[in-house]
Amino acid sequence: MRGLFVTFEGIDRSGKTTQARLLLDALGDAAVGVREPGGTAAGERVRALLKDPAVELSPAGEALLFAAARAELVAQVIEPALAAGRVVVSDRFLDSSLAYQGEARGLGVAEVERVNAFATGGLTPDLTLLLDLDPATAGGRGAVEDDRFEQEGRALQEQVAAAYERLVAAAPGRWRRIAADRPPEEVHADVLAAVEAARRAPAGEEA
Ligand code: TMP
Repeated sequence: MRGLFVTFEGIDRSGKTTQARLLLDALGDAAVGVREPGGTAAGERVRALLKDPAVELSPAGEALLFAAARAELVAQVIEPALAAGRVVVSDRFLDSSLAYQGEARGLGVAEVERVNAFATGGLTPDLTLLLDLDPATAGGRGAVEDDRFEQEGRALQEQVAAAYERLVAAAPGRWRRIAADRPPEEVHADVLAAVEAARRAPAGEEA
């Protein structure tokens, strides 16, 4: 039986990485964790390039680099794991490109979707967990601003948050919104419940 593809989305510092780790710990050997961009030798190099504020990139170049890293990850890691029946947990996926490059960078969601369909063969998550956090609260979490996206500050995060709202509205069946302004263990309980429900439901019916 094919596995389950679960993705985490949200603005920067919404707690995705912590929640992905807690979910992976809870699922044990049944699960495989990946992060975007990254997760393959080529993908990690592309990640370093994308995060470096000293490297200038056009919006199109940026979108294509994310898509290239994603193509490697899908082919080398995600598809084989799903074929083996595992739960794949990804810290960001296609929706991040739709929100950041498609909307915030203004390339257009449909355009970015097309590029990514070529990169991934059209792979879509079975379940996407939106860690819902107000950009002002996320900004107050005070991590080091060490990459091109975080350095762009609140305005970018507001645009990305609005973009996620539109993506949820366009495909409500795939998304679960989870309030992220709570202690990590409380957020995790809701995450796990959503994933367990999706594992029990036949594909496409995990409402
Ligand atoms: P993160 O690993 O800390 O989430 O950093 C990745 C950054 O890259 C984050 O600011 C979101 C951004 N990003 C995009 O703009 N497009 C994408 O497709 C992905 C996966 C991430």
